[in-house]
Amino acid sequence: MHTSDQILKLVNDTLDNLAYDRKPSSLYEPIRYVLSLGGKRIRPVLMLLAYNLFKDDPESIVMPACGLETYHNYTLLHDDLMDNADLRRGHETVHRRWDANTAILSGDSMLVLAYQRIAQCEKEKLAEVLALFTETALEIGEGQQYDMDFEHRNDVAEEEYIEMIRLKTSVLLACALKIGAILGGASVEDADNLYRFGEQIGLAFQLQDDYLDVYGDTKVFGKAIGGDITSNKKTYMLINAFNRANDEQRAELVRWIEATEFDRAEKVAAVTRLYNEIGIDRLAQQKIEYFFAESRKYLAKVSVAEERKAELAAYAERMMKRKY
Ligand code: IPE
Ligand code: IPE
Ligand code: MG
Ligand code: MG
Ligand code: MG
Repeated sequence: MHTSDQILKLVNDTLDNLAYDRKPSSLYEPIRYVLSLGGKRIRPVLMLLAYNLFKDDPESIVMPACGLETYHNYTLLHDDLMDNADLRRGHETVHRRWDANTAILSGDSMLVLAYQRIAQCEKEKLAEVLALFTETALEIGEGQQYDMDFEHRNDVAEEEYIEMIRLKTSVLLACALKIGAILGGASVEDADNLYRFGEQIGLAFQLQDDYLDVYGDTKVFGKAIGGDITSNKKTYMLINAFNRANDEQRAELVRWIEATEFDRAEKVAAVTRLYNEIGIDRLAQQKIEYFFAESRKYLAKVSVAEERKAELAAYAERMMKRKY
């Protein structure tokens, strides 16, 4: 058995040693840049931890795990362009440091590199792994499109938000765990329970991300605070603030949402104050705990000795306490 720290080191060492010796460097430098800025490496670590439930040599599948991380970083390049974000992992985003075209094209090449790396797995499992990854990648595009469509709608229901974050975020965590299980030779049932575990963890994880976007500390979070409020993202927090507000609070929320010209800091402060008044902070925390508790039910069903699951369970627990 490996510890999650050993697995993280394995992932980071492999990512650090990937060669970018193709040309032009203007295409590959931004790729190297974003992958060198750190990040939690949650998706490859989950994949290797899931594999490690069944087999003892996670080193043997570290390249496809790095493929998932490459894919995730590709989504970030495009997401930051779409969300007009200046800061990622405490550094300038690719479209700010270079330009929008660079974020688009280097991102596209990362998607291709992701496939190339993921495909470096056992031949007999390749078709199943690629089918799962491809379906997941399509779902993420769907989730990202809903996320953007929702910016322009004011009637988004909580269930729609949950489905949107399941698509844009959860399915990749779920896919990572399931690929680990498939490559580890798990039964179909165990692989599916790990997928469901990832789905619930992913919902808690995105809710936490939305929470930190309001209540986090930029220096720790590595992203600008208030981006979601600025662009009217229909988060669990905004949807519930709207539903639970009194008439006066609702009118103020609507004013901020509909304002076309505003001072960013002023809007973020005003909406955050409304969240606090309405008790959204606690409500969001409770929902995060709810999804985390749900996730445990699926991990419990995986037919592996409890001691063997301890590392993955502890890692998931630490994920929930993240501040960045
Ligand atoms: C950011 O993902 C995008 C979301 C799905 C919230 P992470 O929070 O895993 O970002 P890094 O990779 O650690 O920077
Ligand atoms: C990210 O959602 C989901 C994907 C990147 C697919 P966010 O837009 O909330 O992620 P951050 O906050 O920019 O990392
Ligand atoms: Mg974003
Ligand atoms: Mg986004
Ligand atoms: Mg976010």
